[in-house]
Amino acid sequence: MIRSHIVGCGAYLPGNPVSNEDLARRVETSDEWIQQRTGIRQRYLAAEGELTSDLAIQAAQRALDHAQVKVGDLDLVIVATATPDETFPATATKVQAALGMTRGAAFDVQAVCSGFVYALSVADSMMKNGMARTALVIGAETFSRILDWSDRTTCVLFGDGAGAVVLRAGDGEGTPADRGVLSNVLHSDGRYHDLLYVDGGPSTTQKAGFLRMQGKEVFKHAVTNLAEVVGEGLTAAGLTTADVDWIVPHQANRRILDGTARKLGISHEKIVVTVDKHANTSAASIPLALTEAVHDGRIKRGQIVLMEAMGGGLTWGASVTRW
Ligand code: UT7
Repeated sequence: MIRSHIVGCGAYLPGNPVSNEDLARRVETSDEWIQQRTGIRQRYLAAEGELTSDLAIQAAQRALDHAQVKVGDLDLVIVATATPDETFPATATKVQAALGMTRGAAFDVQAVCSGFVYALSVADSMMKNGMARTALVIGAETFSRILDWSDRTTCVLFGDGAGAVVLRAGDGEGTPADRGVLSNVLHSDGRYHDLLYVDGGPSTTQKAGFLRMQGKEVFKHAVTNLAEVVGEGLTAAGLTTADVDWIVPHQANRRILDGTARKLGISHEKIVVTVDKHANTSAASIPLALTEAVHDGRIKRGQIVLMEAMGGGLTWGASVTRW
């Protein structure tokens, strides 16, 4: 049985950190409110002219270096993003060109904050079907471009950044003892569009639009849906919560991370938390957090790593990997 293995990861954050105090100088908010309600202390914002593809390319190059994989070996690039450079072509094709890759396939996946889990699942399925053997899966966002800076209920929550992983096809017995991606579970429910969306787009207003969110409602759905999908992912992998070494969640709000772990009965010490440093970077948040925990040595070979996310759509999902 083919298993896809994460053989390297890399991340990129633009510019210098922007603190809550920095934001409080331009928006009616406070460090105390932001930290208490979300756990966020700072975020990174792309410079003028710095595009989602620029962030993605940096993260991709770092992931390839870490994996010691050559561009010539790549046959798939997927970029998860809700903030593409242009309406078309896919940001992934810009990454492909910048890397000097002229074969294989490159495309974007749009599932907002769940984008990385969706993209990983697509890449894993393609590898299992023999359609690709070496893939780059990137989450990259410039959410600062779709924030309404006069809306304090949303603009303090998000940041820009990119993270990437390199996947390689390998063999496995098809058991939970295998290394590699063991299971993926994806869900969406379009009835909840109005809870989290952007009020523009090429077919509606011909302008990019701004992010609109009913935060409290999204929060309620997040804890319930995430706890459920984690259970489904573990069952599909033939594992239980007791087997989990690390949860690498989408980083939206510290209270959501803690609430989900509590509901699952998983210790807080097993959650990789970066929301304090990066804020919510949508599809980039999981690979950013994963890269930190892999590079600082927390995540070790043979451990079970569980990634989970929920975002606009609503979309949500989980992916279980034995490192
Ligand atoms: O990644 C995709 C998924 N997104 C999420 O998961 C986000 C989920 N939601 C959340 O994280 C939280 O709901 C928020 C952090 C967005 C908001 O926290 P909350 O505890 O639900 O606060 P709230 O919206 O009920 O607002 C409480 C108060 C309000 O004042 P009043 O009406 O009680 O007087 C707001 O006007 O806080 C006020 N407020 C602020 N005050 C200072 C809202 N934003 C701010 C702000 N600074 N930035």
